[in-house]
Amino acid sequence: MPVPRVRIDHATCVLPDGTRRASLLLSGGPSGGSSGGTILDIDPAPSARADEVIDASGLHLIPGVIDDQVHFREPGLTHKEDLHTASLACARGGVTTFLEMPNTVPHATTQAGVDAKLALAAGKCVVNYGFYIGATPDNIEDLRHATRTPGIKIFIGSSTGSLLVDDQEALERIFAETTLPLTAHCEDEATVRANAERLHGGASVHDHSKIRDHAAARIATARAIDLATRHKHRFHVLHVSTAGELPLIARAQRTHPGLISAEACLHHLWFTVDDYDRLGTRIQMNPSIKTRADVDALWRGLAEGVLGVVATDHAPHTLEEKARPYPKSPSGLPAVENSLALMLTAMHEGRCTLEQIVSWMCTAPARVWRIVNKGAIVPGSDADLALLDLDAAHTVRDAEQWTKCKWSPWDGLTLRGKVVRTIVGGRTVFLDGRADASHRGTRARYAYEGD
Ligand code: DOR
Repeated sequence: MPVPRVRIDHATCVLPDGTRRASLLLSGGPSGGSSGGTILDIDPAPSARADEVIDASGLHLIPGVIDDQVHFREPGLTHKEDLHTASLACARGGVTTFLEMPNTVPHATTQAGVDAKLALAAGKCVVNYGFYIGATPDNIEDLRHATRTPGIKIFIGSSTGSLLVDDQEALERIFAETTLPLTAHCEDEATVRANAERLHGGASVHDHSKIRDHAAARIATARAIDLATRHKHRFHVLHVSTAGELPLIARAQRTHPGLISAEACLHHLWFTVDDYDRLGTRIQMNPSIKTRADVDALWRGLAEGVLGVVATDHAPHTLEEKARPYPKSPSGLPAVENSLALMLTAMHEGRCTLEQIVSWMCTAPARVWRIVNKGAIVPGSDADLALLDLDAAHTVRDAEQWTKCKWSPWDGLTLRGKVVRTIVGGRTVFLDGRADASHRGTRARYAYEGD
């Protein structure tokens, strides 16, 4: 049976060389199977065969979002989230590929651990997926030989779970002896511990930003950049939260072109310490939420290109867990199904353009992690796409969230800009509020893997 072909007509497409009206011809795949369909042509000949025609008049078409920082909790913590529920939330949010962190239970710190997650995902993810391998003080051999993974995640400061590499000698070895791209959670462990001691663990969630303070973020980011530049090792700074980290990153980007990339997360672009009164532990995150001046600096960092990626750090915990008195309340919040709509809302507020959103959420993550055939609408690329109604408004509601934990820190906020259809490998997996839960995505591939 010939592979079905889909044509999308009349969409305003964000293409690498500009935004314009275009038609797209895709190869699809069988319903309910993993497809791997590709973009066959842009503005195909009118005679080109199409089995399905989508009229996208009035809508914008962008590459599917690649969220390079999520925590989907499977295996081991599936009362919070699992790979199926999280991938449905991705589909709803226009996220067609996610890269997931290793602090599951057990931690993914071996090839077998990464491969076990890939096998789980193949059976239950409606979107595409990849899994980082986690660094420990003594798994250098696993890290040296790791494959089928975007890169190595180091917790230079501890967060949820017990992954931590704080010892200088162990860090030197990881930067010197491994070849995969490195990325890190940068909050200085000693600073955090000293602050916690001084504040007797913290009396309320307001103290979270005093314990995980500006200095903790700056010191750890400076340390990681020092390691990366000395060892000339490709390094990505996760969830930058302070104005003070930006000049460190910018300087390293000037002195070592192509070596250092960095990202901002939605919650750090949105919330400030003043929001603790209203939102309490819902916005307890590591790195912590900072000040208005930091939020403004992060937006400037994005505009100036120091920060190249926008991700979520989607880290669900149940509301019961979040209701524990601080500091027993866990850090983390869900975001994956609202991230693109939040950025579209920011666009309407004049913070950025649609082309910048595509760069930060689609093209740059593919470039940073050298994901093959994703991140741009070009012939030959995987047919991973999001179709948007830029003007449609909707209000975020806890009870209507698809993430298993069923809440959002943006509950009650009306967003402008909506994902109306999400296409993964040429197949529609989300349309008008409903998902095709039977679809299966495929694993992301990385340039280092070869053909
Ligand atoms: O607040 C956080 N929660 N930050 C992290 O880096 C990890 C995450 C989690 O897994 O809960």
